[in-house]
Amino acid sequence: MARRPLIAGNWKMHKTVAEALALVRDLKRLVAQVRDCDIAVAPPYTALFPVAKAIEDSNLRLAAQELFYENKGAFTGAVCGPMLEEVGCHYVIVAHSERRQLFGETLVTSGKRVKAAFAAGLTPIFCIGETLAERQANDTMKIVAAQLDAGIEGLPAATLRRLVVAYEPVWAIGTGVVATPQQAQEVHQMIRERLRARDPEAAATIPLLYGGSVKADNAKELLAQTDIDGALVGGASLDAESFAGIVKAASVRTRGQ
Ligand code: PGA
Repeated sequence: MARRPLIAGNWKMHKTVAEALALVRDLKRLVAQVRDCDIAVAPPYTALFPVAKAIEDSNLRLAAQELFYENKGAFTGAVCGPMLEEVGCHYVIVAHSERRQLFGETLVTSGKRVKAAFAAGLTPIFCIGETLAERQANDTMKIVAAQLDAGIEGLPAATLRRLVVAYEPVWAIGTGVVATPQQAQEVHQMIRERLRARDPEAAATIPLLYGGSVKADNAKELLAQTDIDGALVGGASLDAESFAGIVKAASVRTRGQ
C-alpha cells in the first residue's frame, strides 16, 4: 500500500488576510507541477475562507489549526468541525504542543478532538511529542505512546486508517534544533509498530509526519527515513520559496512499502 507524502504548513498566529493571499498566490505557482505529494496550508481562522477561495483551482489543500469538540453552544471563542468543513477545510491540526502547553489540551480532550474532526468529515493531523525534560529523563517512548493511545482510543479501524499523525519533539519546535533523522525515525518506527498492533492496515496507510525546525535543506534526509512520510512545517512555511523547497524534497518519490 503506497503512502503519499504530505507536507503541511502550520502558519500559527501569522499572516493577515492580505498576506495570506499573497503567500498562497506565490506558493501555487511554485508547486503547480507537483503531482506526487499532498500539500496543505493552515492559515489562522480569519484567513481560512479567503484562502479556500484562492486555492480552489490548485493542488493545495486547506487545514485549520485547531477545533473544539462540541458542535454548537455557549463556547465563546470556539470553532467547531462542521464550521471548518463548511469553509473548505480538508484537514485540521489537533493537539499541537502549543495547544497542550498554552491552552490546556489534555490527553482526554485530544481524543475528543480527533473524534470530532472525523465526525465533521475532516482529516485530523494529530500531533504528539515529548518535551526536552521528558527526553532527558528517557521517557520519550512512554510519553509519545501514551499521547498516541489517548488520541486513537475507541476509533473503529476504518476511521483510524484515515488519520494523519505528526511526531513533533517539543524541543525541536521553533528552536532551529532539528531531531536527527535517526532520532526521528526511532520514534516514528515505534508509532508505526503501535499502530500495527491496533490494525495492520492503519499502520500501512497512515502518513507519519515529522515536525520541528524542518527546512528545505534538512527535509530530504528526514524524508529518506523509512517511517517518515512527510512534514509539519512551522516557520519555514511562512515563506513561499522555503516551503516549496520542502515540498520538492518530498515529491521525488511516492513512498510505499
Ligand atoms: P517549526 O514548527 O517548523 O517552526 O519548528 C513546527 C510546528 O510547530 O508544527
